[in-house]
Parts: sequence; C-alpha cells; structure tokens
Amino acid sequence: MLRTITVTLAATALLALWIPASASAGDAAAGKPLFDANCSSCHGMTGKGDGPVGAALDPKPRDFSAGDFKLDADKDGKSGTDADLAAIIKQGAGAFGGSPLMAPWPTLSDAEVANVIAYVRSLKQ
Ligand code: HEC
Repeated sequence: MLRTITVTLAATALLALWIPASASAGDAAAGKPLFDANCSSCHGMTGKGDGPVGAALDPKPRDFSAGDFKLDADKDGKSGTDADLAAIIKQGAGAFGGSPLMAPWPTLSDAEVANVIAYVRSLKQ
C-alpha cells in the first residue's frame, strides 16, 4: 500500500516536470494544421518559401527547408532562436527590420506559436 502511494507520487512528480518542458518545446504535429492554414500560402506547404502568394513577394518568404534565419529580434547576437521566431511571428518581421509582408499573428496563443515553431524547425532538410 505505502509502496503503491510512493510510486504514484513519484510518477505524478515526473509528469509535472514533463508537461511544462514539452509545452515550451512545442508540438510539431499540433503546429502543422496552424502552419498549413496561416503560413503555407507564402512559405509553401513544405516550407520552401514557394507558396502561391509568396511567389510574388520581394524579399521572398523564408525557405524553412534551409533552416537559416535572418532576424535577431531579441538582439542577443543570434538569429533564429525560439525567442526570435516567437517575437517575429507575434509582432511581424517589420518590427525587427524585416519585411512588413511577414505580418504579425497576434491571434496565435503562446502555445500555438511554440507548436508552429516546432513544425517550422521540422521542415529543415
Ligand atoms: C503574406 C505572406 C506571409 C505569410 C502568410 C507568412 N509569412 Fe513568414 N515571411 C514572409 C516573408 C516575405 C518573410 C521574409 C521577411 C524578410 O526577409 O524580411 C517571412 C519570414 C518569416 C520568418 C523568418 C524570420 C527570419 O529571421 O529569417 C519566419 C520564422 C516566418 N516568416 C514565420 C511565419 C509563420 C510561422 C507564419 C504563419 C503563422 C508566416 N510566417 C506567415 C511572408 C509571410
């Protein structure tokens, strides 16, 4: 009996540690439908920057299959960190010296942004 309780408590503690960690890392599978609906028109279904709307844009939408990012939104000397991508998606690239055609997405929650970022990273080839 005591052993069962101890095991249950340990499992609960592990679960509590695991849930926030996985939430902040984002869930690529949950990000895919958000990406398809909101981002693929410019960035393309496979993220190559070749969506039907993106074709006409200059600069071109970022090609996520290359995994290279340009803007350092939080000015920590590194572009393409999770914090940079989250800021760019929420506030638009124009807020950080990029193209205003990469519009802000204030309708996406923090969790949705994290999921979209995980999906964007999964598109790197
Ligand atoms: C109307 C077209 C359009 C849509 C829709 C769009 N983007 Fe973009 N995106 C762009 C363009 C254009 C750029 C390139 C900006 C630049 O080079 O200054 C870009 C750049 C980016 C970058 C790269 C920033 C960097 O530092 O290199 C990320 C990340 C990004 N978009 C994510 C998204 C996500 C996620 C969505 C959907 C929620 C989305 N975009 C929807 C046009 C779009």
